[in-house]
Amino acid sequence: MSDTTPTANAVATMDKITALCKRRGFVFPGSEIYGGFVGSFDFGPYGVELANNIKKVWWEAMVQHERNIVGLDSAIVTHPRVWEASGHVGGFSDPLVECRECNTRSRADHLLEEVGAFADEKMSLEEINKVFDDNRDKISCPKCGQKNFGKVSQFNLLVKTNLGNFKDDWGTDPAYLRGETCQGIYLNYKNVLDSSRVKVPFGIAQIGKAFRNEIAPRQYIFRKREFEQMEMQMFVAPETELELYDVWKQKRMQYYIDLGFKPENLRFHEHENLVFYAKAAFDIEYKFPFGFKELEGIHARGDYDLTQHQKFSEVNMEYQDPYTNEKYVPHVVETSVGLDRTFLAVMTEFYDEDNLGGETRTVLRFPFKLAPIKVAVFPLLRNRPELVAKAEEVFDLLSKNFRAEFDDNGNVGKRYRRQDEIGTPYCVTIDFDTLGENPDLLDTVTIRHRDTGEQERVAIAELISYLK
Ligand code: GAP
Repeated sequence: MSDTTPTANAVATMDKITALCKRRGFVFPGSEIYGGFVGSFDFGPYGVELANNIKKVWWEAMVQHERNIVGLDSAIVTHPRVWEASGHVGGFSDPLVECRECNTRSRADHLLEEVGAFADEKMSLEEINKVFDDNRDKISCPKCGQKNFGKVSQFNLLVKTNLGNFKDDWGTDPAYLRGETCQGIYLNYKNVLDSSRVKVPFGIAQIGKAFRNEIAPRQYIFRKREFEQMEMQMFVAPETELELYDVWKQKRMQYYIDLGFKPENLRFHEHENLVFYAKAAFDIEYKFPFGFKELEGIHARGDYDLTQHQKFSEVNMEYQDPYTNEKYVPHVVETSVGLDRTFLAVMTEFYDEDNLGGETRTVLRFPFKLAPIKVAVFPLLRNRPELVAKAEEVFDLLSKNFRAEFDDNGNVGKRYRRQDEIGTPYCVTIDFDTLGENPDLLDTVTIRHRDTGEQERVAIAELISYLK
């Protein structure tokens, strides 16, 4: 029988999540020994396992389970013209405003949001300045609290690099770190078409790093300067774009529900102000500790991207339908989600505190496929070589099938708490009965369940199929 009861205050706050992530090795501040580096974070030993599992689950859903989606891993640094064609050199910017008192630069749209006004990247600079001027008397600098700002200007988010450029003045002729992974997909659309047997509608999926010179990285790993995206671009016949868009919108919402997210923590948000080429754009928003915010974007992008690359590269991007011989530039339905945001959503969603056996504990109730460690193996006592040897044997058996951890540190209760905090679904303890003290229990172990604290006896020979 389970003896867990809920606590009154099990809500995941940012303070609790960031402290747990640091304490247990999920996320570390970037360059910490040098005092940190704004907008930069590193995944620690359990963080990298969780991040890899998130990517694996996404890849399974988007590539493995789909008949007409293939994968790609394209370069981070591309020909600079790519970013002119995509519109990023000219238009990929955020509205920046500088405090005249302390010179702190902030995003004008974020400051406006805080006073209940609205501006976004699709508005012209004049329009944003007008809204800002209308609200000036209400807006305070987040650093010094003064209300003395300059004019709003546009700040380009592309990160320049001098890779392969040996001139001293490389700033005048830069390359860029990619601002979104999907551009690599458009560049390879023809290669994939010509080298595999895909037919429209087909998709290309990719996971990889993207870089943006965010003016104000904030909310922990929610908005970083270096982050990872998981993007899928589906190339479709123009007349099917909105129908397939709707299919993917629903599929992507269902994906989170299937992963174990509570429906009430997710919602769709329709973009009020579409970019000129888009037919439709919805965000899936998640209820982060700081409120509902964008987790994933689903966009009907028309033929804008391929047409732009066709124009700038002078390579024909048309597709010829093998049945009708009709030629057209495919339209694109995109799903785009950040790994780091998914990580934060997963930490928030599965964070819990309860009372177990009269003690309050913190527990991450990760689904099995996301858990960094699937099973922990304990010898009951670390100073009994026969127990340790048997536990090592069980660990060797399990670790060939699952990410497992061997732990002989402290009493078993403490080891359970540690594993609860990192979300390990099962703990296996090797005790004297395993060694045959009770002959009926020879070669059996105790399995303890994370969520309920319940324990049961299972034969070592059945452990792998039990855990699978
Ligand atoms: N290709 C479309 C695209 O990049 P986006 O809305 O700019 O669209 C897609 O980004 C997703 O990438 C977002 O929903 C978010 O999950 C993630 N993302 C964007 N900027 C980010 C940042 N600075 N830090 C972390 N994740 C970010």
